[in-house]
Amino acid sequence: MKKFPKKIFPKVSFIGSGNIGGTCAHLMAMKNIADIVLFDIVKGLPQGKALDIAAAISIEGGEVSITGTNTYSDISDSDVIIITAGLTRTIKDNNAKPPLDRAELLSKNAKIIKKVAENIKKYSPNAFVIVITNPLDAMTWLFQKLSGLNRQMVVGMAGGLDSSRFCYFLGKELGVSPKNIHSFIIGEHGNNMVPLIRFSKVNDVPLDEFLNGRNNREEIINNVIKKTREAGGEIIKLMRASAYFAPAAAALDIALSYLQDKNKTILCSTLLNGEYDVHNLCVGVPVVIGSSGVKQIEELNLQNNEKEAFQKSIESIQTLTTTLKKIIL
Ligand code: APR
Repeated sequence: MKKFPKKIFPKVSFIGSGNIGGTCAHLMAMKNIADIVLFDIVKGLPQGKALDIAAAISIEGGEVSITGTNTYSDISDSDVIIITAGLTRTIKDNNAKPPLDRAELLSKNAKIIKKVAENIKKYSPNAFVIVITNPLDAMTWLFQKLSGLNRQMVVGMAGGLDSSRFCYFLGKELGVSPKNIHSFIIGEHGNNMVPLIRFSKVNDVPLDEFLNGRNNREEIINNVIKKTREAGGEIIKLMRASAYFAPAAAALDIALSYLQDKNKTILCSTLLNGEYDVHNLCVGVPVVIGSSGVKQIEELNLQNNEKEAFQKSIESIQTLTTTLKKIIL
């Protein structure tokens, strides 16, 4: 029988094989487009997930490989690395305490990101890296600084997730498929996110125009923004774990745009060096992701009220980043 050479796939590594890492690895494996390495500090966890996902792939006849490991050198020469290592805001004691604020995660996750950055610099300095660990914008900044990777090769997964939530809630409200809704949520991944209603579209019609004539227009928009802002906390309250299906899907979207050179515009946290008049901070803005990483940062022309909200968001990220400099640098 004729033997075909084994296909060579790109390599995608996950640092952190918990809920988001494991789910994203599963989604990616089912697409049969990349060999996958799952890394975690917990012994057995990445190996167990890899075994489970390997069996799932075999049902579809997939050819990619999936490996679980506790050894950093196994991530060598990855094309993409997705970082989910860290603590979450999960309520540990039966609702007695409110969910941890993203900012409270700062110092613990910063120490983890430091270690991760050292190892990625050592074993995979040419990878395109997607940071998911919270507080997102501060962790993306810290990773970029400590790893020394080119700013085009580092993004934080943020606005894509917030926008998908906005599209879902708005679609439900209007009876329109979320697929036909476009939204822009920029700024901080957190309470100070900035939904840009003026740039939102439904069936290619500006949202404002689409809602024209409805006397509950303000109510609809405010309601959707509130639900979007609170979705993360609401999920924690309901299932006592932070969200992972949508974050995993949003990370996959970014990874695919890079691996397949899609040049898709995605809302990601990226290091701004003068764009939007912001210097040396990672902030969520629309970026074009293709085979060279962040190919372009799209600068939206903001109006005064939008600039004000964006500025508030920047100040919040700045506060966390300044604290980080004191703790880690
Ligand atoms: N190196 C590698 N992995 C680590 C490290 C470390 N130093 N420290 C912790 N981890 C692993 C944990 O063992 C765990 O398996 O990170 C994983 C995190 O997984 P979950 O607790 O399931 O968290 P998850 O829901 O995946 O969220 C991960 O993304 O959205 C953010 O706030 C969230 O910061 C959190 C991160």
